[in-house]
Amino acid sequence: MSSENTAPAGYSRAQVILHWLIAALILFQLLVNEGMQEAWRAMRRAGEDGGNPVPHIVVGSAILILAAIRLVIRLRHGAPPHPAGQPAALALIANVVHWGIYALLFMIPISGLVAWFGGVEGAAAVHGGPLRLALIGLVLLHIAGALAQQFVLKRGVLMRMLKPES
Ligand code: HEM
Ligand code: HEM
Repeated sequence: MSSENTAPAGYSRAQVILHWLIAALILFQLLVNEGMQEAWRAMRRAGEDGGNPVPHIVVGSAILILAAIRLVIRLRHGAPPHPAGQPAALALIANVVHWGIYALLFMIPISGLVAWFGGVEGAAAVHGGPLRLALIGLVLLHIAGALAQQFVLKRGVLMRMLKPES
C-alpha cells in the first residue's frame, strides 16, 4: 500500500486503461438498458419472456470484475499525490468522490445480480433508483472537477489519466 512517502509519480498504464475502459462501459450501461428493463418487467409479470437482458448482465458483470482488478492495483500501486498547492478542502472532496465512485462500482452490479438472479425487487429498486442517481451525481462532479482542475486552475491533472506515469 502506498503512503505519502512512497506515492508513485503517476498512474500506471493498467490504471489508465482500466479508467477509460470502465468509463466507457458505465456509459453504455446508463444509456443502453431498455432490453434489461423490458426483461425485468416481463419476469415480474409471472415469468414471461421479453427484452434481451444479456448485454446488460455481461457488461455489468465485466464492470464488477474490472473494478475489483482496478481496486487491487490502486491499493498496491497507489495514486499520485494531489497537485502541489491544492487546497485541503478540494483534495478532501476529490478523495470522497473517488472512493464513493469505487464503492458504487461494486454496489451497483452486486445489487443488479441480486435483483436478477435472486428475484429481489428491493435490490432492483435500489439499483435503478438511489445507486444509479448517486453514480450519475458523483461522475458529473468528478468530470466537472477534472475539467476545472485542467482549464480553470491549470494544474494539468487530465494528462495523468491520459499518459501513464506522467
Ligand atoms: C455498473 C454496472 C451497472 C450499471 C451502471 C447499471 C445500470 C442500470 C440502469 C441505468 C438501469 C435502468 C434503471 C431505470 O432506469 O429504471 C438498470 C436496470 C437493471 N439492471 Fe443494471 N446496471 C449495472 C449492472 C447490472 C448487473 C450486473 C445486473 C445483473 C443482472 C443488473 C441488473 C439490472 C436489472 C434487473 C435492472 C431492471 C431494474 C428495473 O428496471 O427496475 N445490472 N441498470
Ligand atoms: C463513468 C466515468 C468515470 C469513472 C467511473 C471515473 C472514476 C475515477 C476514479 C475512481 C478515479 C480515481 C483514481 C483511481 O483510483 O483510479 C479517477 C481519476 C481521474 N479521472 Fe475519472 N472517472 C470517469 C470519467 C472521467 C472523465 C470523463 C474524465 C475527464 C473529464 C475523468 C478524469 C479523471 C482524472 C483526470 C483523474 C485523475 C485525478 C487525479 O489523480 O487528481 N474521469 N476517475
